[in-house]
Amino acid sequence: MGRLERDMIIFGGSAGEALAVRVANLAGARLGKIDQKRFPDGEKYFRILDEVKGDDVVIIHPTGGRPDELLIEYFMLVDTIKDMGPKSISAVIPYFAYARQDARFNPGEPLSFHLMTRLIEQLGTNKIYTIDLHLQRVLDLREIFKIPAVNLTAVPAIADYIAKNFYPKNPVVIGPDMESEQWAKVAAATIKTDYAVLEKTRFSATDVKIRARGGEALNVEGRDAIIIDDIISTGNTIIEAAQLVKKAGAGKIFVGCTHPVLSGNALAKMYAGGIEGVVGTDTFPGPISFVSVAPVIADALKKG
Ligand code: R5P
Repeated sequence: MGRLERDMIIFGGSAGEALAVRVANLAGARLGKIDQKRFPDGEKYFRILDEVKGDDVVIIHPTGGRPDELLIEYFMLVDTIKDMGPKSISAVIPYFAYARQDARFNPGEPLSFHLMTRLIEQLGTNKIYTIDLHLQRVLDLREIFKIPAVNLTAVPAIADYIAKNFYPKNPVVIGPDMESEQWAKVAAATIKTDYAVLEKTRFSATDVKIRARGGEALNVEGRDAIIIDDIISTGNTIIEAAQLVKKAGAGKIFVGCTHPVLSGNALAKMYAGGIEGVVGTDTFPGPISFVSVAPVIADALKKG
């Protein structure tokens, strides 16, 4: 990849350091240094060690796993960098914590997604990039962000990984619920096959039921199924979907997701449920983060 003409410097927050190194390398940008420590009482200390005056600053900052801590860290980073005179500040938030609480489901609940986006904007972020954001009730990022916001996708890279490493035979792509159609469609186009979308009813954060859409017959008999979703949290969505396609006659089941949150024993449950291969990306680093989103981010930053 070529070098950037603009003066771009890329910082990784405490959960984004590895990604920042890869992206800076691919984009031909400077890699910024941050000295991070803890005060004895556990509060965060950091110091930005580079001059950023007049630069386009990029902060790569996944917010999964330790959402509250990482969001506070982002607020402190952007507030500090803003005072150092950059030309612009872009946030790359590959896993966007709190995006799933995008409505008040019961009176008295917070509108967490809206609050986080407001804080990110108001503290001085000029542009935001995220990856396969869970858009369910908020369908367009412009409904929620006033600054330019770009939702990148890792799905082609995930589908490509599955095709080249799991060798599915006569594959069919399955989206486990209606929202996943956007990703199932892209995965199917990447590996040049067809897809089907199932219907999910969610009763709670851990309890879901999945059935064929409108009683539709599934064309999966004797074919290996690739289930594609944005997030795997408890793994229950994937396990339910896998059982249904297996019952409909599918061969092996493979799974790809962008954000492998894998709460508790999700991964073990999926393997025990007969899933033969699972892959996710490094938006949420963990045991199945075999695909890196660095090339997708670097390309987007180079386009500007
Ligand atoms: C929406 O429901 C999402 O797209 C995922 O399907 C969901 O977050 C997966 O959660 P779990 O693994 O807990 O079923």
